[in-house]
Amino acid sequence: MADVAVIGAQWGDEGNGKIVDWLSARADVVVRFQGGHNAGHTLVIDGAVYKLSLLPSGVVRGGKLSVIGSGVVVDPFALIAEIARVESQGVKVTPDNLAVAENATLILPLHQELDQMRETSNSGVRIGTTKRGIGPAYEDRAGRRALRVVDLLKPEELPAKVENILVHHNALRRGFGLAEADAGALVAALREIAPKVAPFAKPVWRVLDEARKAGKRILFEGAQGVLLDVDHGTYPYVTSSNTVAGHAATGSGLGPRAVGYVLGIVKAYTTRVGEGPFPTELTDAIGERLGERGHEFGVVTGRKRRCGWFDAALVRQSLKVAGVDGIALTKLDVLDGFEELKVGVGYRIDGEVYDYLPAGVGLGAGIEPVYETMEGWSGSTARARSWAELPAEAVKYVRRLEELIETPVALVSTSPEREDVILMKDPFQD
Ligand code: IMO
Ligand code: MG
Repeated sequence: MADVAVIGAQWGDEGNGKIVDWLSARADVVVRFQGGHNAGHTLVIDGAVYKLSLLPSGVVRGGKLSVIGSGVVVDPFALIAEIARVESQGVKVTPDNLAVAENATLILPLHQELDQMRETSNSGVRIGTTKRGIGPAYEDRAGRRALRVVDLLKPEELPAKVENILVHHNALRRGFGLAEADAGALVAALREIAPKVAPFAKPVWRVLDEARKAGKRILFEGAQGVLLDVDHGTYPYVTSSNTVAGHAATGSGLGPRAVGYVLGIVKAYTTRVGEGPFPTELTDAIGERLGERGHEFGVVTGRKRRCGWFDAALVRQSLKVAGVDGIALTKLDVLDGFEELKVGVGYRIDGEVYDYLPAGVGLGAGIEPVYETMEGWSGSTARARSWAELPAEAVKYVRRLEELIETPVALVSTSPEREDVILMKDPFQD
């Protein structure tokens, strides 16, 4: 029985909520290993809609252990607010079903302020972040001045830790013309939230090691997508963590063999929120139609997502760098009724043709996608549960994508409903 990692293979928002829920129903432990409350995962269970940002998807199902690994940046205030939110929907969150890594980095209010300030100032590169403080918190982790979950367990040591991080932040804040952060107020806020977070703090590496020894099935739940990976994505228009499956090991405290099967979630077209290159973007009526049919608005920030054709060259690159074994193709039904469909297979950049996106390409200027045109279909793919129920052209489209991305389709999701899936390969089954 292999443990499974599920990751987004484009720019996030691949529609992973349903797939993660389907997999987590069959897992014993669900682990988040990177990112923070910049993620927005919508789960629909028995008609109830849950919107999760920081909590692993297993939390809304009884009898699962949910784990927030050390690779996650945890805003303790957002964590407690999200717990209260799901509890108001009748979900119980206790130390029996949620563990938070003691060595996870904390997002503090000053990180969020810095993120907001950078995003709204007129100088510097605007990334279009979720303004949750994700980037600044990871910077402090690498800068070795971050506060971590374990620091909340030792309230007497908080003043010294806060002083230390403020040496750096107040210098920055002065430079940016922000008021200095008040050490006393921050210590007081942390002391107030600490007793609420403390019961969940655990040596997660050990909890997971024990789960593994006991033969439990572990699901690693990625957030964002490979093209937002800080190394392999469209830098600098990325998030500040590694989103590839290899990080499931580092970000949870298990070795490199932690993951047996990597499922990549791939949307049948492409979307992106925030700034950055997007070669197959459509700013015309077709793009509008994709956005409308696909309900492409952000869960976290409500922003309208940019939409475009499927980019096979970019997805192939993502699947390779992330080590994806098979894909779940989502939202195929959004393409129903198009007369013809285009699929990006490469780029023309300054007169050269590439079958991958080279590092360092700028904001789209001078990148011209190379397309293959395919016949669309007039019938419906929605709710299909077998290949036989799909229009012939839709089968052709999926089969062509499979060839171009050099990775098999493990399943096709044909609606937000759990049962509407064409299943080829069960990721948990060797
Ligand atoms: P899920 O898990 C889509 C994008 C932001 C921005 C960049 C950096 O729902 O797929 P950050 O706040 O992380 O510093 O922002 O990354 N971004 C996402 N886009 N889905 C997400 O998560 C995202 N999380 C971050 O829009 O371009
Ligand atoms: Mg999102």
